[in-house]
Amino acid sequence: MIEFDRVVKYYGTHRALDGVTFTVPDGCVTVLIGPSGCGKSTSLKLVNRLLEPDDGYVRVDGRPVKSFAVEELRRGIGYVIQSAGLLPHMTVQDNIGLVPRLLGRDKTWRRTRALDLLELIGLDPHSYARKYPSQLSGGEAQRVGVARALAANPPVLLMDEPFGAVDPLNRETLQNEFISLQRKLKKTVIFVTHDLDEAVRVADRIVLMQDGLVIQEAAPEELLGHPSNAFAREFVGTDRALKRLGRFSVSDYMSQDTSRVESEDHTSVPASATLREALSRILAVPSDQIPVRDAQNRILGSISLEAIRRAGYGGAST
Ligand SMILES: Nc1ncnc2c1ncn2[C@@H]1O[C@H](COP(=O)(O)OP(=O)(O)OP(=O)(O)O)[C@@H](O)[C@H]1O
Ligand SMILES: [Mg+2]
Repeated sequence: MIEFDRVVKYYGTHRALDGVTFTVPDGCVTVLIGPSGCGKSTSLKLVNRLLEPDDGYVRVDGRPVKSFAVEELRRGIGYVIQSAGLLPHMTVQDNIGLVPRLLGRDKTWRRTRALDLLELIGLDPHSYARKYPSQLSGGEAQRVGVARALAANPPVLLMDEPFGAVDPLNRETLQNEFISLQRKLKKTVIFVTHDLDEAVRVADRIVLMQDGLVIQEAAPEELLGHPSNAFAREFVGTDRALKRLGRFSVSDYMSQDTSRVESEDHTSVPASATLREALSRILAVPSDQIPVRDAQNRILGSISLEAIRRAGYGGAST
């Protein structure tokens, strides 16, 4: 667990963090979000001690970070930044092996680890290991950045707008890959973004910041359903009820009664889809419900407009 406890940080006379308190539970993705300049990157850098607080505490597993030797602390923390920050004169394999090399791992170990990680992030190990960063697309470089952060198998990952420089389509792919990777690895992640859709997609918890302060710390559905003040309401936007539907799965709201389902209905929705997708599909047909199918295309039941409306209304009433 990582805790921010009334953390204050100045740059000269500018008070960038004004008493920031929030908790990052183990094995979860906590997203820091807020307008430009609100203190997200500053907060991240206090965790791996690229910066030191002027007041308050940052603790990892109950220990103030300043009680760790910097190398010991950073060994347990992977850091991913926008545009990946790969070293241009090193191959992909050597970039991934950077931290293990500093930790004294031998060449064979580093090569095996790099190939395994390339496999894990979905790049063909044998064609990518010897490429240079300039031979990668933005999305590929970002994946290698994630692999590099994972190389020493740290329990904690700090990700500062990791997909910020990637176009929207590739960005969604990277987000989905990150979500499935995280399901396997269960790292303790602090993920910075200023894209609310990205936050809602990847977060277990969201910490909304403004001007060096935490405005609200909540699960995404809670933030969207009950923004705590005018700023939070404005930030999550007028389509927050729709965004919130993106957090709910069809499988949790469907009816298993197949008697009203016409098997020749062309429009259906996978059980794994979100209620937001289901709503979009229902709106495109004359009926007020559509069949739900499994991965093998078998009909499992149906999802109705009424069930979606009830799910949306359940928390979006403020
Ligand atoms: N090295 C620095 N020297 C002086 N001021 C700084 C420095 N780094 C950041 N700041 C200021 O501190 C505040 C917080 O900066 P920070 O980089 O944490 O914001 P951010 O939330 O990450 O913003 P963005 O979304 O634009 O990345 C800003 O007002 C910024 O101008
Ligand atoms: Mg930043």
